[in-house]
Amino acid sequence: MSNIYPADTANIIKAAEIIKNGGLVAMPTETVYGLGANAYNAKAVAGIFAAKGRPAFNPLISHIADIDFLPTYARTDDRVMALARRFWPGPLTMVLPRLDENPALDLACAGLKTITVRFPAHPVAQELIRRSGVPIVAPSANKSQTISPTTAEHVRESLGDKVDMILDGGRCKVGVESTIIDVTGKDIVLLRAGGIAVEELEEFLNQKVLISHGNPELPSSPGQLLKHYAPAHPLRINAEDRKDGEFFIGFGNVSFSDLNLSPKGDLCEAAANLFAYLRFADRQPGYSGIAMSPIPENGLGLAINDRIRRAAYKA
Ligand code: TXA
Ligand code: MG
Repeated sequence: MSNIYPADTANIIKAAEIIKNGGLVAMPTETVYGLGANAYNAKAVAGIFAAKGRPAFNPLISHIADIDFLPTYARTDDRVMALARRFWPGPLTMVLPRLDENPALDLACAGLKTITVRFPAHPVAQELIRRSGVPIVAPSANKSQTISPTTAEHVRESLGDKVDMILDGGRCKVGVESTIIDVTGKDIVLLRAGGIAVEELEEFLNQKVLISHGNPELPSSPGQLLKHYAPAHPLRINAEDRKDGEFFIGFGNVSFSDLNLSPKGDLCEAAANLFAYLRFADRQPGYSGIAMSPIPENGLGLAINDRIRRAAYKA
């Protein structure tokens, strides 16, 4: 049975209930279809990574439907607000300093101190976000490493059995993903070319937009960025026992853990807790390090291991 529904008001209301309750909804945007979840529900966000089969936790784009909401969520200045007023709603995504410290957002932000935001132009996406009452994080609604979907049918072919509902809002007008710029520093850096031309941004800003070519000083790829966010304490992974002074984060049946990512060994639950637990462990007084149980190398375990290997990396 197909779970594609026409995007009429009754179905958008149903979809908003699914989002509020931690489910996944594929929604049309003007660029490509997105696989949406409540940004503040880490378990739902973990479900996105599981559904897409992503081998790493990339930061996700939070979709909002009101420019006035932005300053409560991200640090803004005149330049950011001017960009938002000129290009939103539309296919421009901005990476901004994160303001909302709610740990529930950690997975959506992949543990970074930035938040990535866009206000889509599609009326169905806007109505779904407004009725859900939360920002909706949404990567493109396709399996990792495959082509982004521009119709509801594409979503069904790629992820049909993994989403609670696919809202059919017709074919996406833009058809390529949004342009992503990093606006956290003095220079503006292009992270992904997309629906808004760089020339258009430069003309509006009266300033050159830098193109990132993988220079380690520039935040060109999420992989590089993730290395920057590691706990202050040394992290020992694949730990079977606790050494003196260590805060122990367990997985599965580990009797001596201080915190347990998932006592029942559920990788989705573990992913949802990972960043918040690392943060918590890092803040506890009286410990000299953090140790973590081995995480199985399958399903979301790949993404968890990718992340903790980076966090444990010693230069
Ligand atoms: O048009 C779009 O942007 C679509 C629709 C659904 O809105 N979304 C989309 O999301 O393309 P996604 O997750 O498939 O692609 C976003 C890309 C990812 O490669 C992610 O790693 C990168 O943007 N990204 C997000 N935040 C970032 C950040 N803070 N620094 C570097 N890269 C970031
Ligand atoms: Mg994508």
